[in-house]
Amino acid sequence: MQSEYQHLIDLNDYPVSWWTKLIELGEKIKNDPAKYAHECDGKVMATLFYEPSTRTQMSFQTAMIRLGGEIIGFDNPANSSVSKGETIKDTTKIVSSYADILVIRHPIAGAAKAASLTADCPVINAGDGGHLHPTQTLTDLLTLKIEKKRLSGLTIGMCGDLINGRTVHSLCKALSMFEDNKFVFISTPELKMPAYIKDIIKANGSTFEEVHTIEEVIGKLDVLYMTRIQQERFASVEDYLAQKNTYVLDHRKMQLAKQDMIVMHPLPRVDEITVEVDDDPRAMYFTQAKYGVFARMALILTILSDKKGSETLKGKVYGGVKCDNPKCITNHEEYLPKSFRATGDETLLECEYCDERKLV
Ligand code: NCD
Repeated sequence: MQSEYQHLIDLNDYPVSWWTKLIELGEKIKNDPAKYAHECDGKVMATLFYEPSTRTQMSFQTAMIRLGGEIIGFDNPANSSVSKGETIKDTTKIVSSYADILVIRHPIAGAAKAASLTADCPVINAGDGGHLHPTQTLTDLLTLKIEKKRLSGLTIGMCGDLINGRTVHSLCKALSMFEDNKFVFISTPELKMPAYIKDIIKANGSTFEEVHTIEEVIGKLDVLYMTRIQQERFASVEDYLAQKNTYVLDHRKMQLAKQDMIVMHPLPRVDEITVEVDDDPRAMYFTQAKYGVFARMALILTILSDKKGSETLKGKVYGGVKCDNPKCITNHEEYLPKSFRATGDETLLECEYCDERKLV
């Protein structure tokens, strides 16, 4: 299925050269923001946030305003027609006729892809459930480029809720495309990185190891990417409480780290980094959030200037076959074509919305 607009649903829909050009533009904007102050004069961006957000929503809005554009949208679906039962299809169809670019965050995996099927303007995925968060990854790549001067040859520790953390899923998919990056996953057995992400890392020729404590690996890391335990994605409060407070980065653990290791976090922080770490020059999370505006300015400019269009669905509908993932948008919005990608294995299909695999 072809769309005449350039959407950003998953960074891996684009070649690495596209991301690196975008990161370069982000650096140029950071060094001379005034030069870009009127690039989006007269343009409107809509932000449809079906899920809470501070940084992502406000940094998108700031990015558009700093480019000279205007913003519309909602951050509480209860105040929109969504509360009356409106589908993503209808909301998207209407709002995309008001705006030049649409940014969507939704609690269900594949929602941004669903929006891109009917939108009459480019759609940007600002987080779809526990699935992907490509614009956080652009922010993270820009931060690494500026602060570590490279996107390859890095040993990256990722710690916390690796099963539900969409930021680490997108970041692994992206960083494994660069040479010689090594991943160290630090989590409890319940919160391990999903198998499909580990398969992608292996297929891209990168390596990973899985450990249970920060202390045993922090000394060899170039980057420690901390994440919040995602309370809202747990089946019960008990399950969440059993994981809460497992990992806390503090001054004592930081003493074991290299002098040039940087600490990243997509934020919000709950209690996984103590406030004393904020004063350590290696703490990069507030700077990272600031760079998010430059990354998003670069993205808006790229998406609006590129008129190539994109392929929204590349797979096939297999009569009657449905995705098994209850958190997939195709199980919430019935009209969507249930499209699957073939895998190397004939008995296995991959849902194009949430990437969940299914035996047939
Ligand atoms: C993250 C998200 O929403 O996935 N935050 C963000 O975008 N800055 C991480 C989180 O909520 O824990």
